[in-house]
Amino acid sequence: MFEITGRDGLARMGVLTTKSGKIETPALLPVVNPKIFTVTPRELYEEFGFKALITNSYIIRNNEDLKQRALSEGLHKMLDYDGVIMTDSGTFQSHMYGEVEVTNKEIIEFQKAIGTDIGTVLDIFTEPSWSEEKTKNAVDVTLERTAEAVSMKEDMMINGVVQGSVYNDLRTECARRMASMDVDVHPVGGVVPLMEQYRFSELVDVVISSKIGLNPNRPVHLFGAGHPMVLALSVLMGCDLFDSASYAKFARDDRLMFIDGTHRLGDMKHLDCDCPACRGHTVESLRALDKKDREKAIARHNLYQIRGEMNTVKRYLSEGRLWELAENRCRSHPALLEGLRRLYDYSEFLERTEPISRDGAMFYSGVETRGRPSFLRYSQRITSRYVPPTKKAALFLESGKPYSRCYAEEFDACRRAGFTPIVISPFGPVPAELDEIYPLAQSVFPMQREYDIGEEEDDLLSCFLEKAGFEEVVMWPVDTETEGEGYDVGVERARAVARYQFGNDAADALIRGRIELVTSRKTGKIRNVISEGEHVLSMRAGDGLFTLREEGARRILSAVPAPHMRITVNDDAVPFVSQGRNAFCRFVLSADPEIRPMEEVIVTDAEDRFVATGRALLTADEIASMSKGVAVKVRSGTGD
Ligand code: GUN
Ligand code: ZN
Repeated sequence: MFEITGRDGLARMGVLTTKSGKIETPALLPVVNPKIFTVTPRELYEEFGFKALITNSYIIRNNEDLKQRALSEGLHKMLDYDGVIMTDSGTFQSHMYGEVEVTNKEIIEFQKAIGTDIGTVLDIFTEPSWSEEKTKNAVDVTLERTAEAVSMKEDMMINGVVQGSVYNDLRTECARRMASMDVDVHPVGGVVPLMEQYRFSELVDVVISSKIGLNPNRPVHLFGAGHPMVLALSVLMGCDLFDSASYAKFARDDRLMFIDGTHRLGDMKHLDCDCPACRGHTVESLRALDKKDREKAIARHNLYQIRGEMNTVKRYLSEGRLWELAENRCRSHPALLEGLRRLYDYSEFLERTEPISRDGAMFYSGVETRGRPSFLRYSQRITSRYVPPTKKAALFLESGKPYSRCYAEEFDACRRAGFTPIVISPFGPVPAELDEIYPLAQSVFPMQREYDIGEEEDDLLSCFLEKAGFEEVVMWPVDTETEGEGYDVGVERARAVARYQFGNDAADALIRGRIELVTSRKTGKIRNVISEGEHVLSMRAGDGLFTLREEGARRILSAVPAPHMRITVNDDAVPFVSQGRNAFCRFVLSADPEIRPMEEVIVTDAEDRFVATGRALLTADEIASMSKGVAVKVRSGTGD
């Protein structure tokens, strides 16, 4: 059972419950070689706090002594480990050394017999060098073996490994078929060579192609990924579990892992690590240790690095800043940066899970920041949901925020001359009425611009100007004789934000007839929108977006056909949700596929009647696949 407790885009935090306890994700499982404990499982649990590890059932089964002990006392006792134990099946040995002498059935039986919590199918490791046909056959065999494992699993959870080499369609297809089986965790397999060879853009293809086919209600394990440098990017892509054998393997070769790569002790001139294993050491004193002690010290250092980065990833993820961390981490190696850039090819897929707003501001870290799905979202909405108050556009260059304050007098003059002020921002053209919404206002960019982005920006500007139907476009200032009345900026702002957020038809239903605005006495910002005497919307100070009031929701229900903005719950849930309880996924009958996380939604009953308003935490696909968890954080109900 996997419960998602938090998320940011594809990245999520969750809890995986197994028969030996719970794992909080994202989590990294150190690989324990059952023959040699570089660091003992007890130390991993107690000193490092790794509540789950992975070991190899094939190695145990092939060693008579270990096999007998594992069968008689059980795996947990044999390893002296109280946490969750995942076992691998021998697939990796077949990748390293060729054929293995065990059948899928035998290794599943064995994993069950030794009390593994999460066992692994004997999948076929699809090498990046393989032909498509060979890969396809291997995927078919892997799927057959997975079906066999599922039929035998009883109380053992099963890893259903997604294979498919570097063929994206095969990955997606394999993932889809895996998702339809009763497996518990989805590792993405066959990626070790890609990581070893720093082929990160292909790694991104493989992971995203797999994610596209997988069921969002199961954790995804990136098999063999344990270097701290890939964690932020991998969690960003929606991977929940990782494993690392390298902490011990590298230690054997005197190699130290750091967030920016791996360094040989022999080449290092200075030790800049203050982890408990390095504390008090210098490069020289580490070198002077005897082989065994040195190996242990470096392995512990490596584990501290991994643990530290995992914690950093969790902190950024919980703060909604994982993009920022991943962008910064990817600067440590051009191959990683290539991976991050490849992620742009999947912007449309990423946009579906991109939240409508976040608590904190968006920080620019370089040109890659422009590839974030928030930018695509903005360009899509601004070219389809904006209707200007006049047919004449006046362009301004960004000079500070908020625009309405920095350009207060200019905007005023511009409006009196019949122009609509538009600011050229890093997000593209921003109509002055939208200058307070997320992420436009809640973002920090350096004032000096890059010089290699001109064309894309020009395209967006022309597309915007054309779609908005402007007949005249000028750079402000212009000499003008005309001095009109201008227009009601507050109402235009309310209208523009409502269109951006809810679409044009819904906005027309919300902002109609006589409009009164309640504004903050301190900041002058809109608080409440009252249309024809009804309080329809309230504006949040934090992200400049609206929350929907009951009267507003009812107007949308009658003016805009379903499923727009709706999440429909069954009759059992109606009495609870209408009282203000959250709407749980299992009660949802259907949801608008266009809903994005953190978006305002209307909870309806099966007859499309109003039940409540709230914010969606998940997308329609996610809601449909989850058996547990909240779909809508409900704000208010009818109370009847
Ligand atoms: N360890 C690293 N990669 C793999 C893989 O593709 N399959 C299995 N079972 N284990 C792995
Ligand atoms: Zn260290």
